[in-house]
Amino acid sequence: MTATICGTGSYIPSYTMDNHDIARMVETSDEWIRERTGVVRRHIIREETTVSMAAKAARRALENADVLPEELDLILVSTISSNVILPCAACEVQREINAVNATCFDLSAACTGFVLAYNTALAYLAGGIYRTALVIGSESLSNLTNWKDRGTCILFGDGAGAAVLRADGGPETAAEDSGLEAGYYFPVTHSDGSKGSALTCKSRHDFNGLTDADRQGCPENMTDESHYMQMDGQAVFKFAVKRVPEVIEEVLALNRISTDEISYYILHQANKRIVEAVAKRLGEPIEKFPMNLQEYGNTSSASIPILLDEMNREARFAAGQKLVLAGFGAGLTWGASIVEWHR
Ligand code: COA
Repeated sequence: MTATICGTGSYIPSYTMDNHDIARMVETSDEWIRERTGVVRRHIIREETTVSMAAKAARRALENADVLPEELDLILVSTISSNVILPCAACEVQREINAVNATCFDLSAACTGFVLAYNTALAYLAGGIYRTALVIGSESLSNLTNWKDRGTCILFGDGAGAAVLRADGGPETAAEDSGLEAGYYFPVTHSDGSKGSALTCKSRHDFNGLTDADRQGCPENMTDESHYMQMDGQAVFKFAVKRVPEVIEEVLALNRISTDEISYYILHQANKRIVEAVAKRLGEPIEKFPMNLQEYGNTSSASIPILLDEMNREARFAAGQKLVLAGFGAGLTWGASIVEWHR
């Protein structure tokens, strides 16, 4: 059995900060940011939260899929920036949208998160365990950004994207058949924890080493810079331009698909130069690599589903087209999946 994406949705905060706004906060310029990253502006939460954006993206995806909330068996939220720890963001979304039959949990894998959440949902559906799943990437990275660090604050933004997946075949098929068949594409994913120091963010709930006095007041280490994202930009850049083309080649070879059969490569939207380098290394035209990072910056696990939703709503996909989704980021983690479009 396999499963297909039957609807997408997204939510973007209306408040924006352009590069000139950033240049008033740190020593940088619109020209430098555009040239080195491609980012022009980013959308930042005001009233919104990771959960509220996820729920709005979810409602739009359900509407687009023509699926009722009670039909959902699974809600998976990929996030590193949730406003809640307990209950998990996925349970909060369940409550908001009234998806009473869903099993809900979160997944934390930074900018590879949406690809891993998609793979997880697909495995449940292909295995006949669930029939209908909602996969969401939602991030409020502005809360994890050190707005005094020009090496990182130029890059990130907030937003949410979602996709509804449905198992193919009738309900009786789901119960009887857990075999994989044509139309199921195996993903390829990797992690390398030994390189984790390239991109870090310490939990504000890490009380290790605090004194009793710290616990009662405002602990020193609650405000230090390690609670914001810290990045070795060049190391992450080099990792991405090497590993992303490799994993795309791996996933194509594993599924015996040639680059000619791929209509679009939906890459995590981190940096225009990374996307261009991946296209070049694969020998593929840049037109196959849609980008919207100029408008949103890097929204971590939300970037792939936001781009999918924009392209879906612009009717840029046709039934039968094959897409590659590729994520990469902190961990380090990276991975690619093939999606056959069936809407
Ligand atoms: N504005 C102006 N100058 C800046 C700057 C900024 N925002 N940030 C760094 N600089 C300066 C540096 O101080 C350095 O100056 P120097 O040559 O006088 O020492 C110079 O620009 C070059 O710095 P460098 O760090 O080599 O820049 P870079 O070309 O690597 O660009 C990033 C920096 C962060 C844009 C780039 O490394 C990058 O995009 N990395 C990947 C990050 C990423 O995608 N992370 C998320 C992955 S999921």
